[in-house]
Amino acid sequence: MWITLWIVWKTEGDFLRTISYGRQFIDDEDISAVVETLKSDYLTQGPMVEAFEKDLCEYCGCKYAVAFSNGTAALHGAYFASGIKAGEEFITTPITFAASANAGLYLGATPVFCDIDENSYNIDVDRIFDFITEKTRVVTPVSYGGNLVGLQKIYGDLSKRGIVVIHDAAHALGAKKDGFDIVDFCDMAMVSFHPVKHITTGEGGAILTNNEYFFEKLKLFRNHGITKDSDKMKFCSEPWYYEMWELGYNYRITDIQCALGKSQLKKADKFLKRRNEIADIYYSEFGKSDKFKVISGYKDEKSVNSFHLYPVLLSDTDERKKFFEYMRQNNIWVQVHYIPLHLMPYYRSNFGFKEGDFPKAEDFYSREVSIPMFPSISDSEIQYVIDTMKKF
Ligand SMILES: Cc1ncc(COP(=O)(O)O)c(C=O)c1O
Repeated sequence: MWITLWIVWKTEGDFLRTISYGRQFIDDEDISAVVETLKSDYLTQGPMVEAFEKDLCEYCGCKYAVAFSNGTAALHGAYFASGIKAGEEFITTPITFAASANAGLYLGATPVFCDIDENSYNIDVDRIFDFITEKTRVVTPVSYGGNLVGLQKIYGDLSKRGIVVIHDAAHALGAKKDGFDIVDFCDMAMVSFHPVKHITTGEGGAILTNNEYFFEKLKLFRNHGITKDSDKMKFCSEPWYYEMWELGYNYRITDIQCALGKSQLKKADKFLKRRNEIADIYYSEFGKSDKFKVISGYKDEKSVNSFHLYPVLLSDTDERKKFFEYMRQNNIWVQVHYIPLHLMPYYRSNFGFKEGDFPKAEDFYSREVSIPMFPSISDSEIQYVIDTMKKF
């Protein structure tokens, strides 16, 4: 391995860092924004939170945004706002991070999985109705890797049944398809600001919505269920008075984080453009390969894949293992997204899921590896990834 590192260092002419599958991009403007807030009167619950939320609304084209301490907390808020409770069900995809479903479990609800579509790697929207029962309260589709899930087909019918759609758009800030974006055809959309995502606040997340009822519920939930709105008090209106209406949490995001988020959001389009450039390079190298199945970006003006991930499929599970180990030996820190959630020991033992329940998700998992995809990857690092893959 040291020899490989030395050769790479020699040929690339710059010092090799481990090339991760994703990482943040922070510049001086971001650092100044944070420092300015650190010097201000408010470190939390000050003006930056609303300012960041306003910018998010503008960027995502929606009426309301509620920023949370992380994306999982934001999802917890969305499930809470939906009114789901113990004994009721929500439907989601097995190919996702645990948080998409865990946040429903926090409220005592029961997870129901619907297998993926083998082309988009998203939940198979044509099959969701096979899983709906009188207990279904929420559907939580995930836009895997930044490929916007096609909710326009099903949203109207779900709404007619009183089912709330929570779009887990943790991977999809800025994504569009056929002119629609992440807040269209859902009741609430969640975005995450974890460092590997499109923009970062360190930890952080937000719910975007056009629905005032959900907006009010989310704000309460984020802050212990407490309101300070003097016009709405039920028992008293003294100036010091506040009321707790719901059992909420402390899921507040800080002003320091929001200062970073606001500064990062200014660069979001630049980041998206770079992610798409990288995807184009990978696709042009491997689009015709019989070793790797790779995906292309969209080629129409009204659609943008936000490419949080760049998934590569190998021919079978043995090849995947070899490729994974080989890339890591070569200092390329690839990852696998995701181990199907129904196969996690917690989900198996509490809900009775087992191998074979969702064959397409399991097949996808057995062959998937995510290769580096982040805006600050250099051209020579991309070339190194490509050359390493070609030698495999
Ligand atoms: C699909 C998906 N949903 C939810 C989350 C949770 O977001 P956070 O890490 O901000 O809590 C993640 C984070 O990786 C994710 O990938």
